[in-house]
Amino acid sequence: MYSAETNDSDFRLHPLEQLRWLLVSYSMTGLLYWPRSPETGEAAPGPSAQGVHSDEPGRLLQLLRQEIGDCQRCRLHQSRTTLVFGDGSPAARLVFVGEAPGYDEDQQGMPFVGRAGRLLDRMIAAMGTQRSEVYICNVVKCRPPQNRNPSADEVAACSPFLFRQIEAIQPRVLCLLGNYATQTLLQTTLNISQLRGKDRYWRGIPVVATFHPAYLLRNPAQKASVWSDLKRVLELLKEDNQGTPL
Ligand code: URA
Repeated sequence: MYSAETNDSDFRLHPLEQLRWLLVSYSMTGLLYWPRSPETGEAAPGPSAQGVHSDEPGRLLQLLRQEIGDCQRCRLHQSRTTLVFGDGSPAARLVFVGEAPGYDEDQQGMPFVGRAGRLLDRMIAAMGTQRSEVYICNVVKCRPPQNRNPSADEVAACSPFLFRQIEAIQPRVLCLLGNYATQTLLQTTLNISQLRGKDRYWRGIPVVATFHPAYLLRNPAQKASVWSDLKRVLELLKEDNQGTPL
């Protein structure tokens, strides 16, 4: 269970619950590292060895970033400081998708580095992993002025690159943060409250939709729902690695 604390920037679990989930997550194969064969130093054979050790996702992401270039495909380029492509491991088994960069992200060129990002970091830590082991990106790669919602034509211009990012990485689970990510990938107008809590798929990849960290900062009472969604992410990662040693 969650702590009852309501500090708006907090995502702390009860210490026992945190320890329990750290142990559970450490037992989950692949989320952290794939084991190497003691004899050869090569990756041990297994269902996700190819994804973890191939350079392909990294190369594809690099090519995609080059293709996006100094993007002027929609009006957001006029007000952006930096295009925010994505961050994390190209071999990630788990990808988080948010909405769009905010002020801090636009300044630093990295997704989720502001207040919502610090909360996301704590959510990832509570899952027993860290930002460098997962991949984080957004539906829209440039900051909408005054953090307004991205418009339909901006989402339409940018989302094909998101789809290709995910295709390049081929994660085992997608965690969609908030309405925009969920509606864009699941092609629906239902809202996150209607969509979360049920298993869904994007092009065959299991999807867990949950509240956006920025929403969680304003509505800390939803922490329990988000934690239950993150536990579902961990379960799906574990199911994917059934029979594989760590
Ligand atoms: N909110 C998002 O959706 N993405 C970011 O990168 C930062 C805040």
